[in-house]
Amino acid sequence: MIESELIWHNGEFVAWEDAKVHVLTHGLHYGTGVFEGIRCYETERGSAIFRHLDHLERLERSAGLYYMDLPYTVEQLRTATHELISRNGLASCYIRPIAYRGYGHMGLNPLDAPVDVSIAVWPWGTYLGEEGTRNGIRAKVSSWERISSRSLIPQAKASGQYLNSVLAKIESVKAGYDEGILLDEHGNVVEGSGENVFTVRDGVISTPPTSSAILDGINRRSVVQIARDLGYAVIERDIARADLYLADEMFLTGTAAELVPVREVDDHAIGAGEPGEITLVLQRAFQDALYGRNERYLEWLDLIPVAVAERREAAG
Ligand SMILES: Cc1ncc(COP(=O)(O)O)c(C=O)c1O
Repeated sequence: MIESELIWHNGEFVAWEDAKVHVLTHGLHYGTGVFEGIRCYETERGSAIFRHLDHLERLERSAGLYYMDLPYTVEQLRTATHELISRNGLASCYIRPIAYRGYGHMGLNPLDAPVDVSIAVWPWGTYLGEEGTRNGIRAKVSSWERISSRSLIPQAKASGQYLNSVLAKIESVKAGYDEGILLDEHGNVVEGSGENVFTVRDGVISTPPTSSAILDGINRRSVVQIARDLGYAVIERDIARADLYLADEMFLTGTAAELVPVREVDDHAIGAGEPGEITLVLQRAFQDALYGRNERYLEWLDLIPVAVAERREAAG
């Protein structure tokens, strides 16, 4: 059960248990919402949100792709999030902003339905588990194809699109695996149900390009930059299913999962069947960036202003 104290909803702070929507909310019926998954870490410099503006700007872009005007600016959402984390007394948390077509209109034309915006924050551990983060997870290529640009907008983080991820996730869990990997209509690897995919072979790191049907992951971008800064070759290219089996190493990135090694795909051991050397180097470097331990990536951290954090301490 996830829990916290307050939720921000359309400009107000409301009690967690009162943050409810009408059953005829448009987004509930047709998936007309866009959202983000963001994390705030307790760093030595204070609580800091990782790449906050990048996430909020993606939220705004996702909204635009579905013809939704956000009634709040990115800066308003940013300061509301700071305040919300402080008022909830959280030093670290997961952050879930969502903008959705609200109550008042039914039918498939959503343009007259209001756009409601909520932000929730709560403590949330690593999505694929501590054990998976340490020793690697087991993945299964899904029988479900990843949504394509011919039917939806893979680059948008939109609620309804996640039915595709939900099917892949359920299938993989029911079959006894930790995660599902989706292919596109050509049979190329696209991404995990909620993570981007990387392989390593002969020292070269590969990941599907942003022109494929992936979500342009913010952690994907971060890890590509960190890897290049460390001197590794990173190429964006089509990855075939068998490229996964033949890889020396494989890992996934995402806000919820962070950087998770994959030790097995479809019952093929990846490399030695344990997290690879380069994966471990990148995982450490990425963790250092998340926790503000590397000066080079401090610009990725959005520190909760001291004055706001002090209000948390005064309240707590
Ligand atoms: C489908 C999908 N792909 C990739 C990602 C990774 O994106 P990010 O690194 O921005 O969290 C996510 C998570 O948000 C996702 O849901």
